[in-house]
Amino acid sequence: AEAGMCGCMVKIGIIGGSGLDDPDILEGRKEKTVTTPYGPPADVLIEGTINGVQCVLLARHGRKHNIMPTNVPYRANIWALKEAGCTHVLVSSACGSLREDFMRGDLVIPDDIIDRTTQRIETFTDGQPGSPPGVCHLPMSPLFNEPTRQILLAAAKKLSYKAHERGTVVCIEGPRYSSKAESKMFGKWGGDLINMTIVPEVVLAKEASLLYAGVAIATDYDSWREGQEAVDVKQVVETFAANVDKVKNIMKEAVKMISQQNWTEEIQKAKDLVKNNNQALK
Ligand code: ADE
Repeated sequence: AEAGMCGCMVKIGIIGGSGLDDPDILEGRKEKTVTTPYGPPADVLIEGTINGVQCVLLARHGRKHNIMPTNVPYRANIWALKEAGCTHVLVSSACGSLREDFMRGDLVIPDDIIDRTTQRIETFTDGQPGSPPGVCHLPMSPLFNEPTRQILLAAAKKLSYKAHERGTVVCIEGPRYSSKAESKMFGKWGGDLINMTIVPEVVLAKEASLLYAGVAIATDYDSWREGQEAVDVKQVVETFAANVDKVKNIMKEAVKMISQQNWTEEIQKAKDLVKNNNQALK
């Protein structure tokens, strides 16, 4: 591993959503095919460096984008990044906006979720042979790693991009989009954004003691807005593509900033949280 300026080791997993699975952001790329106790991840791990800092890129839906949200191997993806020695995971995602002032193309650094998924296993500790022992009941507040979130915000600021400082993401099962009534309800519940992949990814990252935060691009107004066509794939893909360079630049800047801090204490806190919330590990 590479030593950051602080002298502590960091290695940064980057999970690219639709559009940010471009390996060009890494130097000295090397593809690694791996597997995990939870099966193979969505694609190869692409190892390399950004500004001299070790990074691992993984396409959440596979590089051909052929895995639908329900079938993304979330557990294998996170396990593989942990196994690869990552300390941090930075992610990107296209999201619908549930509020007027999160406009199409806006960047948001989310800080909370509302889980509406129904088909996904949200723990590594599932009682199966080969899985971690016991039962894991993790607290979900704070959900994202706050210092890493602050770095993403600082990176956006340094690049003079506007980014909303917080946002609650409603995660639906999909693959269908929401009905108009659902979309309005999610807004009333306090949702700011909507997508199909943040759960269980963020939860599993916490179980793996990885420091996780992400950048969301608001690509559409979902289905709630009067006088606006309901979301479709074309809107999402076009808006994401038009803004993905900003996300790449934020990631690159954030990697640099992460390598300049000492994370020893944060990593220990993340490990203690898992240990202290599983009777089998006490
Ligand atoms: N991803 C991007 N836009 C979305 C929306 N409106 N609903 C769910 N997932 C999305």
